[in-house]
Amino acid sequence: MTATPTAIHTIRVELSANPYPIVIGEGSLDQLGEQIRAQGIKAGTKVLVVTNPVVNDHYGSQALASLGQGGFEASLLVIEAGEDQKTPATVARIHDAAFERRLERGSLIVALGGGVVGDMAGFAAATWLRGIAVVQVPTTLLAMVDAAIGGKTGVNHPGGKNLIGAFHQPRLVLIDPNTLTTLPEREFRAGMAEVIKYGVIGDPRLFADLETAAARDPVAGLASRAAVGGPLLQTLLQRSAAAKARVVAADEREGGLRAILNYGHTLGHVVEALCGYGTYLHGEAVAIGMVAAGEIAVAMGLWSQVEQDRQRAVIAAAGLPQSWPALDPGSVLECLQGDKKVRDGRVRFVLPTGLGRVEIRDDVDASTISTALAQLG
Ligand code: NAD
Ligand code: GLY
Repeated sequence: MTATPTAIHTIRVELSANPYPIVIGEGSLDQLGEQIRAQGIKAGTKVLVVTNPVVNDHYGSQALASLGQGGFEASLLVIEAGEDQKTPATVARIHDAAFERRLERGSLIVALGGGVVGDMAGFAAATWLRGIAVVQVPTTLLAMVDAAIGGKTGVNHPGGKNLIGAFHQPRLVLIDPNTLTTLPEREFRAGMAEVIKYGVIGDPRLFADLETAAARDPVAGLASRAAVGGPLLQTLLQRSAAAKARVVAADEREGGLRAILNYGHTLGHVVEALCGYGTYLHGEAVAIGMVAAGEIAVAMGLWSQVEQDRQRAVIAAAGLPQSWPALDPGSVLECLQGDKKVRDGRVRFVLPTGLGRVEIRDDVDASTISTALAQLG
């Protein structure tokens, strides 16, 4: 599948040591080789493209063709899809391929796929020969606006998600919105949760754009790529990527500000863990987590009910869930204590204080949490 490239929009992640571009444009997958060359990576460099079977069927040969045109010596490794494959064993398969294909310090790994592929290929690149370059080519909405940007890489441990990992920034993130035409609608909706997140935590204009688009067609809402359409999709991608780039540039290693990206994730992770991974997609759990955080913020007098209702309306327009599942309250509180974001035994919540403003709080008491969750119905 080839398409004529439309205008390419570039956003820079302005890190002092290793800045890099996020290139967004319809048809840009056909420019993958050229864009990598533009980052100073020479023709003849060995490139290992890591992908999964579904993404390979749709876009593997297109990526390889573009890399060939760029003069790269490219080969493909297809790993299994799915969160349950996000393990050290799968990363070892990528390392084995790197060894067999003689990847050197100057070689490159290209991650072509969703967040699962991106996190694993990124981690393999971070660890092979103590770190080789990686280019992220996200093909899910969630990976385009979140996972591919910012350098968090890793795999799951039986004790929890993403417990094994490394920061390893990509040399380039290349986003081709055309790849979303094949993405299942449920996955598209899950990605919309992260787009809504950026609106609530720091971009009121983005939030207003979402409200306006949802109002334009109350039936279709924001619940599919077709409903969102091309121009709005381009805007959502650009504003979300820019929001993430700003936060990562200000706080690469999550010393402070970057934690605001975890809005909706504290209770979202509880939903994922207690309902069993896979019952809810990550973005679906984040949607429930955002509604829950909003309810806590209202209960603590930090946020108005009117704005919580506006958040709920946009989440509903995106076809995302917002009811708290039937979970034992004691297990919820216990699970919260196991969260990566706990500091000195205190659970940290990102709570909205206005549309486009959040605060990080570690003083939410157990009864406020339980009462707020009961409100979710
Ligand atoms: P995913 O990678 O599992 O992809 C979802 C599904 O979509 C898969 O079945 C995949 O095969 C399919 N798919 C991907 N692109 C497609 C396309 N264009 N057409 C058709 N099918 C396609 O899920 P995801 O939501 O992209 O990523 C979730 C993962 O990302 C989780 O492991 C999460 O921990 C991680 N994550 C990482 C970060 C980070 O900062 N590193 C941030 C958020 C999430
Ligand atoms: N997805 C959260 C982060 O990148 O920090």
